[in-house]
Amino acid sequence: MIIDKILLTENEINSICTSLGEKITSDYQGSDLVLVGLLKGCNPFISDLAKKIDLPLEIEYMVASSYKGNTFSSGNVEIRLDLSKSIENRDVLIVEDIVDTGKTLDVVKKILINRNPKSLKIVTLLDKVEGRLIPCECDYVGRKIEKAFVVGYGLDYNDKYRNLPYVAIVKI
Ligand code: IMP
Repeated sequence: MIIDKILLTENEINSICTSLGEKITSDYQGSDLVLVGLLKGCNPFISDLAKKIDLPLEIEYMVASSYKGNTFSSGNVEIRLDLSKSIENRDVLIVEDIVDTGKTLDVVKKILINRNPKSLKIVTLLDKVEGRLIPCECDYVGRKIEKAFVVGYGLDYNDKYRNLPYVAIVKI
């Protein structure tokens, strides 16, 4: 795997988290907000984003997996870890690292809607809009990107490179 180009530097990621955090803080005033992070990729993003949201929120996690060491979606989304508590009548904001085909979020959204949250929205760091196979609108987007494969800041290739402090486009 070769790093082709840096897509987001640490500074750019920090600015994105700050502006998303300010917007979310203003939109969710007075709400009972729960962030639902989709592991493993959301890990650095949800930590940094949550620090920029000035609200008494809660953080929950799910593991929804569709990539099996490939650079394309297998289409089979499995839920391997579920929330630890009810989201009924709560304002839920799904936190995703990247949206590509939309299949992962389609499955997760259907599962969470069935649990009767008060509201259900999506924040993603990166949005590969051209990759969509299923319609999926994100309410908050850090950066729209071209249809390339990226690693770093939580994003992996074969479970590696999640620890890079920046996001890079790679050639496999
Ligand atoms: P979707 O179901 O096709 O929308 O894909 C969403 C999931 O695929 C994300 O949560 C990531 O785990 C993974 N993914 C999609 N694109 C990339 C990428 O460029 N690099 C690393 N993981 C990706």
